[in-house]
Amino acid sequence: MCGIVGYIGRRDVAPLLLEGLQRLEYRGYDSAGIVITGKAAAGKPGALKMVKAKGRVRELEAKVPKRFAGTTGIAHTRWATHGAPSDENAHPHLDAENKVAVVHNGIIDNASELRARLTADGTVFLSETDTEVLVHLIARAQADTLEEKVREALRHVEGTYGIAVLHADFNDRIVVARNGSPVVLGIGEKEMFVASDVAALVAHTRQVVTLDDGEMATLKADDFRTYTTEGSTTTATPTTVEWEAESYDMGGHDTYMHKEISEQADAVDRVLRGRIDDRFSTVHLGGLNLDAREARGVRRIKILGCGTSYHAGQIGAQLIEELARIPADAEPASEFRYRNPVVDPDTLYIAVSQSGETYDVLAAVQELKRKGARVLGVVNVVGSAIAREADGGTYVHAGPEVCVVSTKCFTNTVVAFALFALHLGRIRDLSVADGKRIIDGLRRLPEQISEILANEDEIKRLAAEYADAKSMMFIGRVRGYPVAREASLKLKEVSYIHAEAYPASELKHGPLALIEPAMPTVAIVPDDDLLEKNRAAMEEIKARSGRILAVAHQVQEKADHTIVVPKNENELDPILMGIPLQLFAYHTALAMGRDIDKPRNLAKSVTVE
Ligand code: AGP
Repeated sequence: MCGIVGYIGRRDVAPLLLEGLQRLEYRGYDSAGIVITGKAAAGKPGALKMVKAKGRVRELEAKVPKRFAGTTGIAHTRWATHGAPSDENAHPHLDAENKVAVVHNGIIDNASELRARLTADGTVFLSETDTEVLVHLIARAQADTLEEKVREALRHVEGTYGIAVLHADFNDRIVVARNGSPVVLGIGEKEMFVASDVAALVAHTRQVVTLDDGEMATLKADDFRTYTTEGSTTTATPTTVEWEAESYDMGGHDTYMHKEISEQADAVDRVLRGRIDDRFSTVHLGGLNLDAREARGVRRIKILGCGTSYHAGQIGAQLIEELARIPADAEPASEFRYRNPVVDPDTLYIAVSQSGETYDVLAAVQELKRKGARVLGVVNVVGSAIAREADGGTYVHAGPEVCVVSTKCFTNTVVAFALFALHLGRIRDLSVADGKRIIDGLRRLPEQISEILANEDEIKRLAAEYADAKSMMFIGRVRGYPVAREASLKLKEVSYIHAEAYPASELKHGPLALIEPAMPTVAIVPDDDLLEKNRAAMEEIKARSGRILAVAHQVQEKADHTIVVPKNENELDPILMGIPLQLFAYHTALAMGRDIDKPRNLAKSVTVE
């Protein structure tokens, strides 16, 4: 949520920062801004030059003057928390003397209190943001160095931040700090970058250093150093980003959402690669840090995530119950952390997150660890906060997901859960034959995904058929229910059509009252032991003149239309049944002219409460 990018070196900084902002725009896109250090005149420090604009990065780009030269700068793309999107509230923020500039991700919890204190002392605020208090605190700090000034200011601040600071009197450096919001340094040849996300760096360098919470860094063109907010030096070992710059591009597709849906066969192949052990009909998951004896001791599993990751966790819980026979359930992390949960030493907790940054999930992990629980992470972004905070876990290897709406990561997360459930099952009571059956099913997935994607034209035609709906119902039972929930979330996020998901069995307890021709239903109808029950639910809808689109393994007579998907093992069917509905949501939104990669009011990583 919000993107930061900064550069210090010898190149013209404005084009570099604007390009970085374009790559980070998926993190927030209601306003943007850039500040650079101008050339120093004889004996005088270079003044700061700033441009800000409400709207997208292209609006900012149009406002940047031709003469905007400099080799050091910081920039920001915003997702509003304090104050509406506007030029004034856009970052960077400057002090009264135009000497200090700050860009900030996160939320300063005690901003109102600090603002009142600073105002009483005569400070005039130009924006409604929480960030501006930091600028004035740094400007007023008495210390001699920029590092000390920032440290002094941060001592007053409660909350989360990833910040980058420029100061006209210290124009050979950028000072950055992290607490709860990611900050990554990019190490170049006689140039340094900083960003909130490697996406902004990989076009220039793949050598990165990820700061820890409580860490700061000073970047100069030729070197960098890291230290804690208390001042002690830390050791920073650069690592190499796994993905090439092209992985962050659209690769010939019109939207990232389409690209990411299309990549799913390869992505699933990747999460399976090198993990299957045919000899024992099981899988190896290197980073779990949970040996067989410990795995046998697990009495319950609680999965925590938000949004799409929560839905993936719901399917994960079913897979664990089915394959390992361990009671498991999923809960929104955002609710869990506020209900003073009973933390049981025999329960294994699993935090699920694409970004590895979602604040509600991270806070739940921290609370669990504080209470002595063991927490594993199922995460996509390598080295992210949740991955680092967890005691172990597995990466889902979906590759960079740029569209705000999650698709390929959902699929890979569910596959990762299938691997984990199989691993636990084979340590416990799952037979060799069943282990082999699941492994064979997993191996069939990439080809079956390609088969579903090859049906895109037909799905597009169906999307056009239902695009006039003002509201849609999604139903499924047991394995099909989380698929229905995720499909309904996809449709509302990207098309803004209202959608509800219900267990098919609950229809007659209330939602049936909504059914009429203008409220179509999407029914998830796998060929499993609940097939007849699902058919009965469709019958109930038909009897009320409802239109039905079924996703099934065979054409459903009761439905007006059926999207037929290939059959896998019953346990693995949910992985495939959601994929055509990703395309359905995509084509519905496309037909309605929606801004598919950047839906209104949303941002990719929700790093605030
Ligand atoms: C997915 O389409 C959503 N935009 C959203 O629900 C997302 O899944 C949620 O915010 C959790 O994000 P995470 O997986 O990065 O933790």
